Amino acid sequence: MKLSLNLALLLLCYAGVSFVNSLAVMSVDLGSEWMKVGYVSPGVPMEIALNKESKRKTPAVLSFRDNIRLFGEDAQTVGVRFPKQAFSYLLDLIGKSIDHPLVKLYQKRFPHYNIVEEPERKTILFKIDDETSFSVEELIAQMLGKAKEFAEAGAQQPIKECVLTVPGFFNQVERKALFQAAELAGLKVLQLINDYTAVALNYGIFRSKTFNETAQYIMFYDMGASSTTATLVSYQSVKTKDKPYVEIHPQSTILGVGIDRTLGGLEMQIRLRNYLAKKFNEMKKTKNDVFKNDRSMAKLFKEAGRLKNVLSANAEHPAQIEGLLDEKDFKLPVTRETFEELCQISLKG
Ligand SMILES: Nc1ncnc2c1ncn2[C@@H]1O[C@H](COP(=O)(O)OP(=O)(O)OP(=O)(O)O)[C@@H](O)[C@H]1O
Ligand SMILES: [Mg+2]
Repeated sequence: MKLSLNLALLLLCYAGVSFVNSLAVMSVDLGSEWMKVGYVSPGVPMEIALNKESKRKTPAVLSFRDNIRLFGEDAQTVGVRFPKQAFSYLLDLIGKSIDHPLVKLYQKRFPHYNIVEEPERKTILFKIDDETSFSVEELIAQMLGKAKEFAEAGAQQPIKECVLTVPGFFNQVERKALFQAAELAGLKVLQLINDYTAVALNYGIFRSKTFNETAQYIMFYDMGASSTTATLVSYQSVKTKDKPYVEIHPQSTILGVGIDRTLGGLEMQIRLRNYLAKKFNEMKKTKNDVFKNDRSMAKLFKEAGRLKNVLSANAEHPAQIEGLLDEKDFKLPVTRETFEELCQISLKG
């Protein structure tokens, strides 16, 4: 998380944003699960924008219900009661066709959505009813609009320009879709920066004085909700002779990147959710199949997220949900060993 917040700030440095017009600029590290927003404004070097709960990161979730649109934690709450009306993990879907493997994986993970093809652009839509559907770009635009609000509240002035992180593995179509989302939110994108470049800069910028002519090699791992990236970076100081005299500059070079687009916290949470659901069914407390009940599955997903975090620091912890299905409660002790076993099986295998 710290890394992500630093990213939000570093983006601004990287883009070489200047403030001659006395305008504030924001940066957004839009992850598939969390959104982190930074801003700079005259007199404020760099600051993390707080959300309405005064937190530095906001769940990238959006909900629509009874003509009310909610974001973040509020939208997550709606999502547990009305799973079809809340949307999350959207970054994975941007700029993709309906037959893309990641769209298929999304449908398998969250089968309660009605995902259809957008006839013209051949991307996807969440179909709510006969009159209402949302494209991924529209939903992400609304999240960026929210980021803009947070940054404007912090900077105390309007913001029109931004720098956005983009997963380094995004292709041109995916990048263009992100640009379009920003445009829909009324934002001009000064720069898209690969997330691993931002990570490398974040590390180097505070250590540049320690670099010398011998390269130092550092490997970075970033495991987010949806994907995992390993990046090999070299740091050294280099001499340049652009001017009449020799200058020495710190330099970082991305030497190589390895990516897995399905390995991350979300896959672990889904496995835990499915394990808990299977165990509940085996308890035979009711005749109904918990996998078929959207609301119960949403409750299990939330509990699996909590359990996952607790098990990353504890050897054992109970999963516990009141009235999971047909008013039957669920309680099950889960060990970290069991969780690790669930995570061992390859997604591809
Ligand atoms: N204490 C913890 N133990 C285990 N997992 C955790 C813990 N805290 C956060 N996570 C997991 O880390 C992931 C979120 O990481 P991060 O904020 O880097 O994601 P993101 O940037 O939104 O995702 P991505 O970069 O993949 O799009 C989630 O899956 C979350 O459940
Ligand atoms: Mg991330």
